[in-house]
Amino acid sequence: MPCQRSCDETKFHERWQVYLHPLKPLPLPCTQSRMVAKVVDLRSDTVTKPSEAMRAAMAAADVDDDVLGADPTARRFEAEMAALMGKEAALFVPSGTMANLVSVLVHCDVRGSEVILGDASHIHVYENGGISTIGGVHPKTVANNPDGTMDIDKIVAAIRHRGGALLYPTTRLICLENTHANCGGKCLSVEYTDKVGEIAKSHGLKLHIDGARIFNASVALGVPVDRLVKAADSISVCLSKGLGAPVGSVIVGSKAFIDKAKILRKTLGGGMRQIGVLCAAASAAVRDTVGKLEDDHRKAKALAEGLKKIKQFSVDSASVETNMVFFNIMDPRISPDRLCQALEQRSVLAMPASSKSVRFVLHYQISDSDVQYALTCVEKAVEELLKGGTKFEHLTNGATKHSYGH
Ligand SMILES: Cc1ncc(COP(=O)(O)O)c(C=O)c1O
Repeated sequence: MPCQRSCDETKFHERWQVYLHPLKPLPLPCTQSRMVAKVVDLRSDTVTKPSEAMRAAMAAADVDDDVLGADPTARRFEAEMAALMGKEAALFVPSGTMANLVSVLVHCDVRGSEVILGDASHIHVYENGGISTIGGVHPKTVANNPDGTMDIDKIVAAIRHRGGALLYPTTRLICLENTHANCGGKCLSVEYTDKVGEIAKSHGLKLHIDGARIFNASVALGVPVDRLVKAADSISVCLSKGLGAPVGSVIVGSKAFIDKAKILRKTLGGGMRQIGVLCAAASAAVRDTVGKLEDDHRKAKALAEGLKKIKQFSVDSASVETNMVFFNIMDPRISPDRLCQALEQRSVLAMPASSKSVRFVLHYQISDSDVQYALTCVEKAVEELLKGGTKFEHLTNGATKHSYGH
């Protein structure tokens, strides 16, 4: 069947040059017309595709049944991660959500347990209330400050008195999130983490860190990751976010903690068989990507500086510490949804962060020229939206129509 699109590549470029950048040869239905747009995907750091090295590692992985404890690649990867994080043991799980759920439930294994956590934390806001609905654990929220911390005195005040057992749930756990996604990817310092660890210990509580992006924090703070999490009893680390692996998270902690976590993982349906394939990719990701995170942070800063020049936006570029850029839209004629739709028309994907703000997330598959291209597109999209009258809904494929979060 003849291709519907013009086979004249020159004309094709001319017609699309506003939208296409950088042009990359990819197979199209028509063999003569091979140019399509590269999408600059800033929706999240979860959108990366496995690198060639990850794919090669997956293909070569030596595997066996991990539910039987026999997968050599999984065993090796878990040992690597435990050593890297300075803990006794590690466990591969399918997702960050399961990593947090399993961790909270292991620490809070008595009914009537309570966990102190930030009111903007991922566990509290974006994990379907799993700790309550599945685990029967009661959340006691403390306000997150804009820098992702909870005030120390508020944490202390939230701890229940043991004497009130007739009335109160029993506090057993404190959860921190580092970096803090809803607070713009801010890092919690090692001093703050140690302080919360001391409070937990002195009250007989455990400390869990949702470290979905703990390597971003470690790199941004210049603190070795094992030192950064020293005070924690458990940490969940996402492999499929800044690190760029296709699937999975690991939980790290003491051997006794991980033994219990393994049973819960199976209960929740997270026991998987030949996971060496996934662990091989994750191992390559840890090896190859940690060293690139600094570059992601630099590009995030550059993006924020560029956005700051657009007068309809309010951007605090100084607050960009890692790979996330949040900006507020001050002009009522531009809604986050419509801005994201206008960007999608130019092959730049982003997600609204609230009814007034948009979030861009950097990752290792975004280049410096992608950042410049995205900025140009934002400027053009703003101009277009200010003119008014543009209808996008029927044109977009909905890739950016996600609700806030992640
Ligand atoms: C801070 C944080 N924790 C946990 C998760 C959950 O990870 P997953 O999507 O793998 O369940 C996310 C996901 O975006 C996150 O940003």
